[in-house]
Amino acid sequence: MKIMHIVGNRPQFIKLAPVSRKLIAHQIEEIIIHTGQHYDENMSDIFFEELNISQPKINLNVGSGTHAQVTAKIMSRLEEIVMNEKPDGVVVYGDTNSTLAAAITVSKLNIPLFHVEAGTRTYNKENPEEKNRIVADHLSDYLFVPDKISADNLKKEGIPSDRIIFSGDVMYDQFLYSISCDRNAYIGKYPDDFILMTWHRQENTCSKERIEKILSFIEKIHYKIVLLLHPRTNKVISEYGLWTRVRENKNLLVVPPVGYKEMTVLLNRCKLLISDSGGASKEASFAGKKCFFPLKLDVWPELIESGYINIVDVDDALSVEHNIYMIQETLHSNKNMHKADYFGDGNAAEVIADTIEKVFSVRFR
Ligand code: UD1
Ligand code: UDP
Repeated sequence: MKIMHIVGNRPQFIKLAPVSRKLIAHQIEEIIIHTGQHYDENMSDIFFEELNISQPKINLNVGSGTHAQVTAKIMSRLEEIVMNEKPDGVVVYGDTNSTLAAAITVSKLNIPLFHVEAGTRTYNKENPEEKNRIVADHLSDYLFVPDKISADNLKKEGIPSDRIIFSGDVMYDQFLYSISCDRNAYIGKYPDDFILMTWHRQENTCSKERIEKILSFIEKIHYKIVLLLHPRTNKVISEYGLWTRVRENKNLLVVPPVGYKEMTVLLNRCKLLISDSGGASKEASFAGKKCFFPLKLDVWPELIESGYINIVDVDDALSVEHNIYMIQETLHSNKNMHKADYFGDGNAAEVIADTIEKVFSVRFR
């Protein structure tokens, strides 16, 4: 049996790591295809090295472009590779353009498709990832859901229950695996006490006005903020000539993206997270930290409901004021939340490897 993983973006390398470990433990042959959607050393290679993931057999090197350009390039380059490699099954992860392109290509070749982190929905079709999720889910043969809400979403859309498998979240597996309790790691590089921030979504980088609103929001927080700057955000801040304003905020320490080990240390050490990242906003809850999410989007409804994720509507002065108050409260209370447990027990990848094994043991019998 040969399983192909198709990945291309930072969060997918992190999701792949635990699944690959378990497939290896189950002695299942695997190959990795990298689309090349993310290509900077600290957005790609660092994760393969740090997380001990096998090197991709092929990199499609598609690079950056518009949605259609990236999706089309992946599809046209991938098809021949999949036909040549003849995998028995293909695993795709999350909801990026790499996921979308891979799902369409593989499904048209009638090869069994496994979707990891299936079923998440924001019910906002303007969100680019929502379109990718819907297509990938409806083309997949086996859908591994990270939480109960995702399973319910799929059932509501008519996906048969026997194709929906509650695995729990592979990101939780990896978080538990990578977590370092070394409080002294990276000391000197960061302030003793700080808020951690990431920022990259299309909705939050699409215009000068939007970027200025996010900058205004964080200028109101009089506390050290470590911003791990995604290359997209770096680029638009330059394009809109906003670096002077960024540098004027003396509380803001802007650093390039870091590897996952450093990230888990920062998640553990920070007082709270400000982030529009689907992955990081959830990981904050694994670390018992609150996340302030500067976009009106229903990510992880259970975390919003239980107060781990606080939505900040930067278009609404009252919402900003309320959340600044909540941030000050959180900083003063100096208490972490209980660690959230909506996302399984840290054995999601084992469930996935087990399922893949069972599917093919029946097929090959
Ligand atoms: C993509 C995904 C998003 C996911 C995110 C994870 C889509 C539509 N979006 O967004 O769902 O949350 O990855 O990080 O698939 N760039 C570099 N170097 C890189 C990668 C990107 O400089 O290694 C810059 C380029 O200028 C590029 C821009 O970032 O144009 C955006 O990259 P892209 O892959 O289109 O989208 P992301 O914002 O990374
Ligand atoms: N991450 C990282 N280094 C960073 C910023 C984020 O390792 O500098 C990790 C983060 O912990 C999470 C994943 O990258 O596991 C989230 O990826 P991203 O925010 O790019 O995408 P999203 O989750 O929004 O799709």
